[in-house]
Amino acid sequence: MIPRSLLFVPADSDKKLAKALTVPADALILDLEDSVAAQNRGSARENARACLKSGGPMQLYVRINPPDSDDLDRDLDAIVPAGPAALVVPKVEAVEDLIRLDGLIAEREERAGLPRGQIKLLPVATETPRAVLNLLTWRTAPPRLMALTWGAEDLAAALGARTNRGPAGEFLLTFQVVRSLALIAAKAVRVGAIETLHADFRDDAGLVRSARAAAQEGFDGMLAIHPAQVEVINAAFSPSEAEVAHARRVVAAFAHGEGVASLEGKMLDMPHLKQAQAVLARAEQTGLRGH
Ligand code: COA
Ligand code: MG
Repeated sequence: MIPRSLLFVPADSDKKLAKALTVPADALILDLEDSVAAQNRGSARENARACLKSGGPMQLYVRINPPDSDDLDRDLDAIVPAGPAALVVPKVEAVEDLIRLDGLIAEREERAGLPRGQIKLLPVATETPRAVLNLLTWRTAPPRLMALTWGAEDLAAALGARTNRGPAGEFLLTFQVVRSLALIAAKAVRVGAIETLHADFRDDAGLVRSARAAAQEGFDGMLAIHPAQVEVINAAFSPSEAEVAHARRVVAAFAHGEGVASLEGKMLDMPHLKQAQAVLARAEQTGLRGH
């Protein structure tokens, strides 16, 4: 099940970890990478392990360090045996990185007596220029791939961009293109697409706009960095009652097995039926999660 809201928590902070477990996020991403200073990585790993062992009401993911970093083995040794639902992988450059990671995880799953493939992968697929050009290679990704997300911060630094947003807070064209490519790359290989974070966590109106736009365009969920962002994101990615009622009418219009139908004076064909079925599936999931 692709989460609607994924809240980052710096894993070196006991206080934030405790707070995060009380937030209605569909998933937490316990961070071992950029939000943790190098000297705190060891304790962050220990905290993340303890949190995974005791569990929580949401899915628990861990963001490990990049595939080419010295921290990778230590992260995997500490985290895989504790059985996170997924690993978020930053600075992935090409599918080969995931294929190698798949093998490293499988060895450790086996040693820990976990079923092979249980731990899913959620790469941040656009953090370097090369990664963007490699978005087409994801079709050979291992079956652990559950979703892709994208990021505009590291990419801006790698491009030498002075900023990634225009005066009204909108992404500049280069970053909009990358966002669309990430969405399309994910859907081309039938995995989830996760919108990047809205860094300005006091900007409620901007968050509502970006979360709604992402949901309308086909993203399945969105990253959060602050507890206050979670409910806004959950709401944006849950179908409204009106959307569910409309989807039910669309499905009912096809009840007689024809390939084309009409509803309220508009033509409906297969893409409309598929959209309606997707809305109902999403409504059922979010209903089952009770928020
Ligand atoms: N997870 C859990 N708890 C969080 C949190 C998070 N991501 N962000 C803030 N909180 C807690 C704070 O500790 C504070 O708790 P308190 O009321 O018990 O004191 C409360 O929520 C309100 O926080 P606030 O004062 O508004 O923000 P802040 O200035 O303490 O923190 C950030 C701001 C950006 C440092 C913080 O939100 C954060 O660490 N975000 C995650 C950063 C991250 O993981 N980045 C990596 C991905 S880019
Ligand atoms: Mg980063």
